[in-house]
Amino acid sequence: MTIIHERRRRAIMDLMGEGIAIIPTAPESQRNSDVHYPFRPDSDFYYVTHFPEPQAVAVLIPGRAEGEFVLFCRESNPEQETWHGRRAGLEGACNHFDADDAFPIEDIGDILPGLIENRPKIYYNLGRYADFDKRLLRWVGEVKSKVRSGISAPEELIDLGHILHELRLIKQREEIRHMKRAAQVSATAHRRAMTTCHPGMTEGQVQAELEYEFGRGGAKSWAYPSIVAGGANACILHYTENADVLNDGDLLLIDAGAEIDCYAADITRTFPVNGRFSPEQQALYEIVLASQLAAIDMIRPGQSWNDPHEAAVMVLTQGLIELGLLSGNVDQCIEEGAYRRFYMHRTGHWLGLDVHDVGEYKIDNAWRMLENGMVLTVEPGLYITAGKDVDQRWHNIGIRIEDDVLVTSTGAEVLTGDVPKHPADIEALMATARVN
Ligand code: GLY
Ligand code: MN
Ligand code: MN
Repeated sequence: MTIIHERRRRAIMDLMGEGIAIIPTAPESQRNSDVHYPFRPDSDFYYVTHFPEPQAVAVLIPGRAEGEFVLFCRESNPEQETWHGRRAGLEGACNHFDADDAFPIEDIGDILPGLIENRPKIYYNLGRYADFDKRLLRWVGEVKSKVRSGISAPEELIDLGHILHELRLIKQREEIRHMKRAAQVSATAHRRAMTTCHPGMTEGQVQAELEYEFGRGGAKSWAYPSIVAGGANACILHYTENADVLNDGDLLLIDAGAEIDCYAADITRTFPVNGRFSPEQQALYEIVLASQLAAIDMIRPGQSWNDPHEAAVMVLTQGLIELGLLSGNVDQCIEEGAYRRFYMHRTGHWLGLDVHDVGEYKIDNAWRMLENGMVLTVEPGLYITAGKDVDQRWHNIGIRIEDDVLVTSTGAEVLTGDVPKHPADIEALMATARVN
C-alpha cells in the first residue's frame, strides 16, 4: 500500500518546487458528554498518508536532506492505548507509514516554524479547518519575525487543492478496486432493502436492513447519512429523518452508499413499497429511467462534463410535456428552465474519497472533458410536490435513479449495476422475496 502513497507524495512534491505542503487530518468532534463522533480522516491527508489516526499533520518538504515526508502524530502511550485504542506511535509512523521523520503532535508548534523557514511557498488548504488556519498563520508570523537574522519567510500561500485535487480526480487502479468494493457492498444492501421492504415497516427499519449489509460487507461506515424516504418524503432531496411508516401504494426512495477504506459509493433506487408500481408511478419512473440511460450513454473520454446533464434534461422535459406536466415545446421549456420545478438539481458529481469529490468541473470557464479514470454519478430525478396546477394523481411522487460510473479508455463502466432499476426487474426481485 505504501508504495502507492509514496508515489503520490512524489508527484505532489515534483509539482511544488521549493515549497512546503502542510496537510492536517480532520479534527475530532465531540457529540455529547464524553462521546465523540466516529473519527474519519481528512480525505487529502488520507490520500497522501493512508494514516488513519486523529491528531496528525503531514508535511512534505521536497529536497530536505533529513527526509522529505514528516509526520506529526500521537506518541505511543500504553495507558492511553488501554483506554482508547492502539496508536502507531513515532516508530510506527516511520516503519509502517514510511515517514522519514516523525515528531510528537504536541511539539508541532516548536518544530513546524523551523521547517517553514527559507521555504518560499506554503501549499495548504486555507479555510478548511479554522483552528489550524489560525495556528499556521501564527507560525508564519513567528518565522517572519526572524528575518533580521537572515532567515527568509514564505512569500506565497498556495491552495494545495490546485495540485492535489487534480490527482485525486483521476482514479488509480487501487482506488478503483476500493470503489468497486464500495459499489458492490452498497448494491447488495439496496437489494436487501428491496427484498425486505413491505407496507407497515418504518423507514428506519429499512435503513437498518440496508446498513446491516454495509457492515456485513466490511464497510466501517456509510459514505453519507442514508436517505430512506417514503411517499412525499422523497420530494425532500436531503431527507434523513427516516422515521415515518411506509404505506401501501407509496414509492420508497433510498439514496445510500457504503464507505470502504474511505472511498464512497452513492446509489439511489426508487421502488414501490408493496412491490408493484401504479400506472402513474410507472409513467414517471420510465421517464427518469430513460433520462438516466441517455445520460450514461453520453459518458466516454472526450465528451463534455455537461453532456450527460443536457441529455437527461432533454429526456425529462420531453416526458413531462407528454404527461401534461409541462406545456410548450421542448426547446422552450429547457431554455426557460421550466423543468426545474420538477428537477432542481444537477445530474451528477465527481465521486471518490468524498461523496461529492474534489476536482474542477470547468476549466477556463468551459465545462471540462471527461477522461479515462474519472468517476462520476448519474442521478436524474423528478419530484412532483402537490400544487394547484398539478393533477392530483401525480402529487407527492419523488423518483431518483443514481449509478456510479467509471470513465474508461473507450467508454464507461457502471459500477453499481447489480441493483435492478428497470420496473419489471424490480418487481420480479420483490416478488421472489414475497414468495419465499
Ligand atoms: N447522496 C448524495 C448525492 O447523491 O449527491
Ligand atoms: Mn450523488
Ligand atoms: Mn446519492
